[in-house]
Amino acid sequence: MIEGVAYGKVNLGLRVGRLRPDGFHPVAGIFQSIDVADELTLSSANEDSISSAAGRPVVDGLDNLAFRAAAAVRTEARSAQPLAITLDKRIPTAAGLGGGSADAAGALALAGRHFAVAAVALAELAPQLGSDVPFCLAGGTARVGGRGEDVQSMPALGGFALAVVVPPFEIATPAAFRRWDEMDEPSGLRMPQAALPPQLRPEGDLVNDLYPAAASIAAGLDDWRADLERSWGRHVMLSGSGPSLYAFFLDIEEAASAVDDVPSGARFAEACDLSPVGWRIDE
Ligand code: C5P
Repeated sequence: MIEGVAYGKVNLGLRVGRLRPDGFHPVAGIFQSIDVADELTLSSANEDSISSAAGRPVVDGLDNLAFRAAAAVRTEARSAQPLAITLDKRIPTAAGLGGGSADAAGALALAGRHFAVAAVALAELAPQLGSDVPFCLAGGTARVGGRGEDVQSMPALGGFALAVVVPPFEIATPAAFRRWDEMDEPSGLRMPQAALPPQLRPEGDLVNDLYPAAASIAAGLDDWRADLERSWGRHVMLSGSGPSLYAFFLDIEEAASAVDDVPSGARFAEACDLSPVGWRIDE
């Protein structure tokens, strides 16, 4: 059995361009892995299965993106060996924290080890599974472009931690992009350069163009953001298509004390360190 973890991510900013003929939007932003992680195991079995570690079924069964990722590696290896995968989720779903994509990247890595498939072949499979899977496979800090498949790794960031809050509703990524089209491609929520940690200031203001679309889909989003800004006394940004919100703090202790002030209705509220990797295999 191979065990590993798959780290979630925050989109520190997300610029969006006009809908392409292939149904995707060009994006540009800095993506950062965070130390909120799902746990995965993969082993040979008598028949294909995916479940939680406690044996509970996974909602979408073998259609789950993590299983599809492992099956793609198996095909690449020209094997028909049945696989059993367990997936223990800590990353909140439909939150803009890349949970499904992280699991797919983790499953690529575990299956790659199991079937001895080279990293370069895994990198070719990643964009076929989802736009965020290439970043999650690369992990750490990266400048991301294209529809998500163009990942330029950057030196690890440091000197700050994040407080991440997921309000009590979900936003589906396709719906957010569709609303952004309907709203005539609005420019988004901005965190001014002066409010950024020093290492990020050369990037200029951080902008998430999907914010107006996310706020239009989830009526409570703007109140959650405004309340957190008041309570924390700093700018609060949206990650990806949301509804996860985040702010920068000096270190994990300061982020943890900010999280203590979050209203109890949140789906998720945690102080997060940056992760230098997107996944890890436990030897
Ligand atoms: O690639 P993924 O399956 O995660 O994308 C889900 C949906 O989100 C796409 O079908 C598309 O509607 C939207 N999307 C987009 N532009 C991107 C990424 C995703 O429009 N760059």
